[in-house]
Amino acid sequence: MRVIHTLAELREALAGQTNTAFVPTMGNLHEGHLSLVREAARLGGPVVVSIFVNRLQFLPHEDFDQYPRTLARDCELLAPAGCDIVFAPSEAELYPVKQTYKVTPPAGLADLLEGEFRPGFFTGVCTVVMKLFQCVQPAVAVFGQKDYQQLKVIKGMAEQFAMPVQVIGAPTVRADDGLALSSRNGYLGTDERLEAVALSKALQHLADAARDPKQTLAGMEAAAAEELRQRGWAPDYLTLRRRTDLLPPTDAERAAGEPLVALGAARLGATRLIDNLEL
Ligand code: PAF
Repeated sequence: MRVIHTLAELREALAGQTNTAFVPTMGNLHEGHLSLVREAARLGGPVVVSIFVNRLQFLPHEDFDQYPRTLARDCELLAPAGCDIVFAPSEAELYPVKQTYKVTPPAGLADLLEGEFRPGFFTGVCTVVMKLFQCVQPAVAVFGQKDYQQLKVIKGMAEQFAMPVQVIGAPTVRADDGLALSSRNGYLGTDERLEAVALSKALQHLADAARDPKQTLAGMEAAAAEELRQRGWAPDYLTLRRRTDLLPPTDAERAAGEPLVALGAARLGATRLIDNLEL
């Protein structure tokens, strides 16, 4: 496995490749990331994993500075998972001049849920993913379904720009108690870590309630948020959406079996966690 820090070296290493599989990450890797790398490795071509903490997708008060940079440990995990090239550019390498050209995803998708609570987040994500795609020129890119809305936004970008890359989603990996693996779980104290599974439980309760036609959407969502609030969380949203466009389903659509997803984001102490559950 090679660790490459410059775009010139990356281009040279990948010259002539037409079946590269790519997994973009911000590092501080866990089993969830490694499952994406194994998925990429199954596809048969060279596997590139990028490690880059992307300033553009953080709000000023968010954890950009605090985000753990653990390159040496990440590389130890990546080699046995089937990674061939780690692309770990510096900020000066990826953004040699201020990145003023940006990719703005449609407000109807990107300004809701995560986009409502983290304005500009998906512009930052799309901009860096577009740029990383240009650097790596992959045939396939693998993203985690844990970031459900992100996966949808990136798939839309690749389609609408006719990018020659197939974007695929891989299932969320969970700890034994059901907590979705996330780099931010590392911020949790011992008691918080035990409590953290309550987010996926609240989403499960929301999904269960959705099967009851007598329950209103607003009532179910309020109950799920209250369940977490009672336990000391500060929920941003717990909501039931159509899988197709992440908009709320009508009662008729719920009754007709429209494919739905329960999505949640909530703060436990200083840590903001997200999760989702397809119904
Ligand atoms: O999901 C992430 O880790 C990031 O949003 C991504 C896709 C690597 C872009 O910085």
